[in-house]
Amino acid sequence: MNTAATHTLANEQPHTPALTSRLPAVGTTIFTVMSALAQEHGAVNLGQGFPDFDCDPKLIEAVGDAMRRGLNQYTPMTGVPALREAVAAKIAALYGHRYDPAAEVTITAGATQAILTAILAVVHPGDEVIVLDPCYDSYEPNIILAGGHAVHVPLTPRTFRPDFEAIAAALSPRTRAIIVNTPHNPSATVWTADDMQRLAALLRPTNVIVIADEVYEHMVYDGALHQSMARFPELAARSFIVSSFGKTYHVTGWKVGYVTAPASLMAEFRKVHQFNVFTVNTPVQHGFAAYMADPRPYLELPAFYQRKRDLFRAGLERTRFDILPSEGSYFQCVDYSAISDETEEAFCRRLTRDIGVAAIPLSAFYPGGFEQHIVRFCFAKKDDTLMLALERLAKL
Ligand SMILES: Cc1ncc(COP(=O)(O)O)c(C=O)c1O
Repeated sequence: MNTAATHTLANEQPHTPALTSRLPAVGTTIFTVMSALAQEHGAVNLGQGFPDFDCDPKLIEAVGDAMRRGLNQYTPMTGVPALREAVAAKIAALYGHRYDPAAEVTITAGATQAILTAILAVVHPGDEVIVLDPCYDSYEPNIILAGGHAVHVPLTPRTFRPDFEAIAAALSPRTRAIIVNTPHNPSATVWTADDMQRLAALLRPTNVIVIADEVYEHMVYDGALHQSMARFPELAARSFIVSSFGKTYHVTGWKVGYVTAPASLMAEFRKVHQFNVFTVNTPVQHGFAAYMADPRPYLELPAFYQRKRDLFRAGLERTRFDILPSEGSYFQCVDYSAISDETEEAFCRRLTRDIGVAAIPLSAFYPGGFEQHIVRFCFAKKDDTLMLALERLAKL
């Protein structure tokens, strides 16, 4: 008999070894905190960045159909061929760049996994990755897991336009990648063609890779176009472009997305993907492939969300908030300077507790916080939900 085991069983509590954290700075996020607070106080939750309405029943049918047809086992590592075809065809039609579905399109477990996998494929220990603040909260922990350093460059405060001089100043021989998110969470700004050309010119003499987070690609308003990296051959040649079926089709809980990149970059992406995910949910992929045969759901999405945005903004006109532009995504930022001089987090807590509407402080998207008296609402909600929130906000 193993005496050590006998000794443990007889005399001591089983011992769980302590870990040295790979992500010591990561704690409970403000999103979790605000959602819990919203639930506790019965607040309308405009903090959470996902719809409170259901997807098209035809999409559920298409997935159910795939399940009933027995499409329930592992599928190719790179994704269901028909779905990769559908993605490549959509991108060619919308942005004029033809990706090879066999070598340049991979289906992922949501955009979050695509971004992590791209970073792990690209970043070596000691490399720098430029992130533009405020930014989505997964970027920096992903860079740290790869052994890299996030170099934070702020977007211009209040307008949230890219500051190309600041980006140029941040480029160094160690810069391996830059992460660009347009339409942008949380500011709801959209990069213009001129912005993209300036980025292309800046990166031309470098070997910097672009990781383009384009999950809100189908939510661009007022007749503007989404300026995908795919529209710009020079940028497409150095980009991983990430998108999310969850955002486009109101099914964020299904966690399926995709990434496109030139074949040589994608080969490295797939090496990492193969050993952290291998394959993504098979029947859901078949469902999306069938559903994408009709382009209307994504072509009609800008009008669908623009109506909600306008409804929400019209209601906000009756409050004391200063309403910032919302050019894309499903977010609306407001400045509350006329109402209070609290910190953004304190204001959001009070808004949730006393007024009954949850929002997210913009400072949560900056390292170490940065106070601008701006909070973010999500308008991907039923009209009734938005109306109830507006009724409460009018009391402020
Ligand atoms: C900017 C941005 N990138 C990525 C994601 C994650 O997308 P997915 O749910 O497909 O992982 C989100 C979700 O909120 C997001 O806002």
